[in-house]
Amino acid sequence: MVKAKFGVRYLNKSLNTQLMSIIEIINDTISRVKSLPINCALAAISGGVDSTTAAVLVRRAIGDRLRAVFIDTGFMRTNEPDQVKSLLSNVLPIEIVDARDYFYRELIGISDAEEKRVRFREVFYTVLSRLAREFSCDWLVQGTIAPDWIETKGGIKTQHNVLEQLGINTVERYGFKLIEPLRELYKDQVREVARQLGIPSEIINRQPFPGPGLSIRAVGRLTLEKLDVVRRATEIVERRLADLSLSQYFAAAWEYEFEDGRDLPRSLDGLSVSVFRVRATGVKGDSRAYGHVALVKGNLANWEDVYGIYEALTASYDVTHVIYGLVERPRGNYFVSIRAISTEDFMTADVPRIPPDRLMALAREIMGNDERVAAVGYDVTPKPPSTIEYE
Ligand code: XMP
Repeated sequence: MVKAKFGVRYLNKSLNTQLMSIIEIINDTISRVKSLPINCALAAISGGVDSTTAAVLVRRAIGDRLRAVFIDTGFMRTNEPDQVKSLLSNVLPIEIVDARDYFYRELIGISDAEEKRVRFREVFYTVLSRLAREFSCDWLVQGTIAPDWIETKGGIKTQHNVLEQLGINTVERYGFKLIEPLRELYKDQVREVARQLGIPSEIINRQPFPGPGLSIRAVGRLTLEKLDVVRRATEIVERRLADLSLSQYFAAAWEYEFEDGRDLPRSLDGLSVSVFRVRATGVKGDSRAYGHVALVKGNLANWEDVYGIYEALTASYDVTHVIYGLVERPRGNYFVSIRAISTEDFMTADVPRIPPDRLMALAREIMGNDERVAAVGYDVTPKPPSTIEYE
């Protein structure tokens, strides 16, 4: 039974056993897809390892009856559509679909995290549904992996690519059936499948980028200006931290505005505490939390102490992310948070020990590059109690 085998976590990590199991998974998937009555299957590629691996697997089964597209939502990083196309040039042909105007029309102005995510999902699948009709495709290939639907079903946050697991009938709603060949696998297993399929290491090791992209990293009310601020800061964070082999590293931005936070302490071990106006997601006791983002400022006797300051604030208060302030100035409207994590499976994550000099230099470059940025900090909250993203 293919399905049962998919559910197995590979406890025996001895190389041969793992390789055998992965090869079995690949062969089983290809023969299962071959047996489906597929006229044409559409694959939405992001350039990440999950969607690329899913599409390559299905292409092995049905050849040119697979049509792969990259949807430019307008929430991509600088030059991302072209970069993805060239990264994949020897892997599979993709067509870029420019849907920016439609996404902007539907999402600009939304503030609530879940509303943004649900609206993004609706627009994304409406675009795919139109393309499927245009190409006469009756199936959609998705790179959904286990943590995507586990966290969505658990109510942590709506991952953009989870439909069936929420009871959404994709045939009725969008006109296609789903093929999700990786749905029972975790990230490390997907990377192993990708290696076996000969997918280039630049794709396998590409850090994950969420489907809703920068729309959920421009935290709070979505505006074109905030998107631009986060896009510019992202470029710098990605360039400056690329050599550290971190699982994920990026920037997020929101207004440099504070609220009373009356129930929160004003200081903590000699450091000042304030709370931003925006809310951000977290996961506490296996449940979703949508709480305050705290900014902690002041001199630390010992830099290592920075990694412990989240505990008191997240344990006793409605706080999901704690950020340590690195630099600020008396002008500008936005705060930029540097987010970096190390993780195996993305269900839990640690904050890596980046040397403070390096963080300061990074923060100064972000400020120097954009007059609209008033302050920059480092998010020191692991998952749980935070989530990796802010929304
Ligand atoms: P969180 O924020 O839930 O993120 O701790 C866990 C991992 O999932 C990525 N992520 C997404 N990936 N669509 C995706 O394809 C989404 O809607 C989405 N939301 C979060 C996130 O970047 C991290 O790697």
